Amino acid sequence: MHALPEFTEDQSQINRDLVQLLAARIEQQGPMRFSEYMHRCLYEPGLGYYVNGLSKIGVDGDFITAPEMSGDFARCVANQCQEVLALSGGDILEFGGGTGRLAIDVLQALELAGALPDRYFLLDVSGDLQHAQQQLIAAELPVHLADRVQWVGNFVQDFSGVVLANELFDAFPVDQFTVQEGVAHVRSVDWNGSEFVYSSAADANVAAYVSAVEKNISQRLPDGYVSEFCSVLHPWWQSLSDSLICGAVLVCDYGCDRASYYTHARSSGTLRCFFRHGVHDNALICQGIQDITADVDFTALAEAATSCGFDLEGYNTLAQFMLSLGALDRHNDAVQKMDEVDRYKATGKLKQLLLPEEMGERFMVAGFSKNIVPALRGFSTGDLSRLL
Ligand SMILES: C[S@@+](CC[C@H](N)C(=O)[O-])C[C@H]1O[C@@H](n2cnc3c(N)ncnc32)[C@H](O)[C@@H]1O
Repeated sequence: MHALPEFTEDQSQINRDLVQLLAARIEQQGPMRFSEYMHRCLYEPGLGYYVNGLSKIGVDGDFITAPEMSGDFARCVANQCQEVLALSGGDILEFGGGTGRLAIDVLQALELAGALPDRYFLLDVSGDLQHAQQQLIAAELPVHLADRVQWVGNFVQDFSGVVLANELFDAFPVDQFTVQEGVAHVRSVDWNGSEFVYSSAADANVAAYVSAVEKNISQRLPDGYVSEFCSVLHPWWQSLSDSLICGAVLVCDYGCDRASYYTHARSSGTLRCFFRHGVHDNALICQGIQDITADVDFTALAEAATSCGFDLEGYNTLAQFMLSLGALDRHNDAVQKMDEVDRYKATGKLKQLLLPEEMGERFMVAGFSKNIVPALRGFSTGDLSRLL
């Protein structure tokens, strides 16, 4: 790992306070399961990464996402929304809206297409990001579009329409396990008086989960293998199912199918930490000031969704999804009036979204439906659902 950039005063203060709090909790109650540690590092009120008021997303933050990269992503998503809304009617509900960029660009694209929904709901657990969304939307959207945006604190009851989740699930806390003498043990975080260290213990539920994974991929995981799984997918999909009358859900995130997720080559898991656009895998440092994230096991995601009453409509790479939705033509229309330099820069950003080694194949898109039968155009030129 390269040396990390110096912390600012604010970052140092937040990190010190959170370390103190986590260490005290461990001293009182013993090692903390990794999922709880990750949850607290990200969401501890006032101190967690997503709720402490420091910049996170974009050039001044720690990482950049597809909607922040360029409007190309939103234009394709809008096109897919338009197709679904024509079938289901209703509105758009975006989970984890980040800076609000996707909401802005989708609403503008839908207005151009004459297909605006009445409401665009935003639901974010981060009060900071909700505030950032409100500011950006007020600054960039004309009043007649901004008025359609509503912030909600919970799943919208009796919702119909399109649900969007871009890089939502990679921010869900994961449990970690390590295989010892053929059995998966749960990993926890301990405090040795001066730093956080990992500990592990036998856990029947974790062992059963990993055994089921091994059966599913027809492979035993070797001793020393470390990886993650997310145990809060099912409750999330159940809450969505309980509140959704009909519509489609589009999930975009980095991740892969289960067999690729738990391949022997990934023997130290998928956990990554982002700090000032640098990436490393040490979650036991920089508490509160670095993002902690894990790849999405899209098989687990699809299992959770289908067990809660959703149908899987398609699964493909971000690049194929966008190309199926006319990314190139849309891009050409959007850059038509730009001068040569801006056009060159805009095309560079589209390349980052589409090229396999950039985001094009590291990000996957899955589409689900409930009580409608959409033939989602985003999966019309290819569908890898059978991998899940
Ligand atoms: C990695 S950021 C992605 C932001 C944005 N979607 C983008 O692509 O730029 C994760 C977002 O999900 C939000 N989030 C995390 N867990 C959530 C949950 N359970 N419900 C709603 N939002 C959540 C975070 O606050 C943050 O806005």
